[in-house]
Amino acid sequence: MEAELEKLLTEARAEIARAVGVPELAALRIRLLGRKEGSLTLLMRRLGEVAAEDRPRIGQLANRVKNEISTLFEQREQALGESAARAPAPGIDVTLPGRERAQGTKHLITRTLDEIVDIFVRMGFREELGPDIEDDWHNFTALNFKPDHPARDAWAGFYLEHGWLLRSHTSPVQIRVMESRPPPVRIVAPGRCYRPDPFDASHSPVFHQVEGLYVDEGVSMAHLKGTLDAFCREFFGPGIKTRLQPSYFPFTEPSAELAASCVICGGTGCSTCKNTGWVELLGCGMVHPNVLRNVGYDPDRYTGYAFGFGVERFAMIKHRIDDIRVFFENDIRFLRQFP
Ligand code: PHE
Repeated sequence: MEAELEKLLTEARAEIARAVGVPELAALRIRLLGRKEGSLTLLMRRLGEVAAEDRPRIGQLANRVKNEISTLFEQREQALGESAARAPAPGIDVTLPGRERAQGTKHLITRTLDEIVDIFVRMGFREELGPDIEDDWHNFTALNFKPDHPARDAWAGFYLEHGWLLRSHTSPVQIRVMESRPPPVRIVAPGRCYRPDPFDASHSPVFHQVEGLYVDEGVSMAHLKGTLDAFCREFFGPGIKTRLQPSYFPFTEPSAELAASCVICGGTGCSTCKNTGWVELLGCGMVHPNVLRNVGYDPDRYTGYAFGFGVERFAMIKHRIDDIRVFFENDIRFLRQFP
């Protein structure tokens, strides 16, 4: 009897260790420890055959065997459960390479805006923001657009209720800043603008501008030219040449356009510069005395310059992009070129 119990234990150890699944283990438990037909139960039924004086010892041994087998079952069950949780679900090929996680990047417009603002901030300009929805005063009247002046048409915006409109340029931020504090002011204002233009290779009804404004005593056109020149060399590279050519804006006098030597052909003439060697970059000029008056600044004491330009246009020239629509279509093949 003793030998049979020891044998049962040895066999149980081996079988439990070999079991590879939780269901298999459950069946084994019934076969070994089952109350009716389990091997141990069957052995114990024959305890009566054992001599009376040996019975307590054999009984104790049987108990130990039972306890040990139970413990082995528990340990094996736990081990199998853990590896089942770790094992891949059926049908998953663990040899396949992992899935790449696509990482987003800043859109080229955001990056260009950041880069532009950064250059001006290093030159001492402070970043200011204004609302996308404007009133007639800030978008036009305070900027010296006369009520029926045809120049209003060139900046016609999308109109909302009660005379509100989506701002057609960032120049209204000039007014908001000057209305809010006395001179000197030196600010850059990046932002979105809206015009009812067709959506074609060079126009988009939504686009971005950066506005610059510097008002103080003694600010001159030379400061304007020097600042824009330094900015262009920083943004496009040291080889760029710039020049001012006459222009018209209601809010600046004199008004000018800054042109740069064509970055595509270097000034020798190509389709981008229409064989002139120059590309127009931005509008600028000396703040009109009427504008200063409109915000309560004394035009006899203060002068200032202002400039404004399109961010899409700058990005297109710098990166040789020939269609503005790529900025808004979000084609992944375009976006991926500017990681
Ligand atoms: N607001 C003008 C435009 O949208 C640009 C500009 C800004 C011109 C400031 C002169 C001074 O075209």
